[in-house]
Amino acid sequence: MLTARIFLKLIIGVAGILTVGVVMMDLLVPPLARATLLEERTRELEQKARMLAQLFPEGLAEPTPTRLHTLARETGVRLTLVARDGRVLADTDADPAHMENHAQRPEIAAALAGRIGSMERYSPTVGIQSLYVAIPVETGALRLAVPLADVEQRVANLRREILRSVTLAFLPVMLIAAVFARYASSRLGAIIDFAGQLADGGFHRRLNWKGTNEFAQLARKLDETAQKLETTFDQLKREHAELEKLEQIRKDFVINVSHELRTPLASIQGYTETLLAGAIHDPEHNVRFLEIIRQNAERLGNLTRDLLTLSRIELKLQRFQFASYYVNRLIEDCVDALRPLAQAKNLTVTFEPAPPATEVFCDAEAVHQALSNLLDNAIKYTQEGGRIRVSASVLAPRDGAPRYVEIAVEDTGPGIPKEDLPRLFERFYRVDKARSRALGGTGLGLAIVKHLVRSQGGSVRVDSELGRGSTFAFTLPMDDLGLDEESSLKEELTYS
Ligand SMILES: Nc1ncnc2c1ncn2[C@@H]1O[C@H](COP(=O)(O)OP(=O)(O)O)[C@@H](O)[C@H]1O
Ligand SMILES: [Mg+2]
Repeated sequence: MLTARIFLKLIIGVAGILTVGVVMMDLLVPPLARATLLEERTRELEQKARMLAQLFPEGLAEPTPTRLHTLARETGVRLTLVARDGRVLADTDADPAHMENHAQRPEIAAALAGRIGSMERYSPTVGIQSLYVAIPVETGALRLAVPLADVEQRVANLRREILRSVTLAFLPVMLIAAVFARYASSRLGAIIDFAGQLADGGFHRRLNWKGTNEFAQLARKLDETAQKLETTFDQLKREHAELEKLEQIRKDFVINVSHELRTPLASIQGYTETLLAGAIHDPEHNVRFLEIIRQNAERLGNLTRDLLTLSRIELKLQRFQFASYYVNRLIEDCVDALRPLAQAKNLTVTFEPAPPATEVFCDAEAVHQALSNLLDNAIKYTQEGGRIRVSASVLAPRDGAPRYVEIAVEDTGPGIPKEDLPRLFERFYRVDKARSRALGGTGLGLAIVKHLVRSQGGSVRVDSELGRGSTFAFTLPMDDLGLDEESSLKEELTYS
């Protein structure tokens, strides 16, 4: 449709130009041809006039009409003899008696003045367009006249001939124009179509035209533009999605925090009111109620402590003191600190150390807290009589990459469903909320582990099988990675 319109416009344009050319030719050529013919005819007539004047050196004072008629017939012209005063003495086509004085006729006036005069004019005497040439003779002037009908005829013929041949030439020109117009219109159509799609956001399309002509060059520029738009658009889309995700995480976090705070607060308020309303004097319940209040206060304390820890790391307020430590020593200290808890649940804790004197480069306090959180979980979630195995091993280094030690805590607990594993390190994410709360958990322990480990330049992982147990592990660099102590946390989705 669009292509057809462009085609039509191009063809009409070419036809218009050709038509203008033909009209111009028709306007210019015939008058030029006519002028040339007339000039030729005048020269001819002048020659004849000179010859005739030569024939009568004695003049034509008393020209016999017969003689004049013979001469006129022989030369094929009309002859008029005019006296010096302008009177017509003789004429081969008219009766001089009926002819007016010719002194004012421009050609006669010129001849009477001694020059050859010529003029093209309508003859009132014979009633046709004629060419006049007058030459001075003894008696006055001899005038020769020829009708110009044949000149007009020849001009008309020429005009017809020109129009015919130009019209014939029109056809191949139009044919060539049509071929070009078809090519140009299809190309232009495709480009307009492409630009339209680009404007509507179809950035993935390309024209991919080969060649060096202007269409191909334009197509390449458009392809480049589309490429740039696509890249920019994709980037914006990604950034937008990321921002939306962040915003969602932030909202969820606020809701979670409010919810976590409200439950213990409501409980404290409820039991306090009950006690104040008289239950304080009820020896059967008062201690139990106070114990519930204490537990909830402790929960609030744990929650605010964990929240504070997280935001200190995130806001980079936490200052780490990096140094080299024997990894086995760090782990043993931590395991020893939590051993009483494990013993209380009748759990066996074993430790498989790394090769002696293996060093890690980290902040000892941060590692202690991370490992404590993992051990605490293992102890909390593993049934009585279970086993916990802590190990440290040097990971096989990849070419050129820094060397790491991995610390793992493996338990024989209930395990974690596969679908929960990817989100386990998110804030407040718990597999079993009620169980976690009952055990005094905040749901922030693993998020803290992840952030602490990352700020040491390490990474976390979890592996678990339902009914078999879980393995939580993190790595620590063995050498100084040159982490900035204050801003060791890389830019990331900080709420996750
Ligand atoms: N060793 C483990 N065995 C089974 N589940 C675990 C273990 N460690 C963590 N989890 C699960 O991961 C959740 C998140 O752990 P965490 O962030 O430490 O929060 P909390 O312990 O306060 O609930 C826990 O609620 C629990 O469901
Ligand atoms: Mg925990």
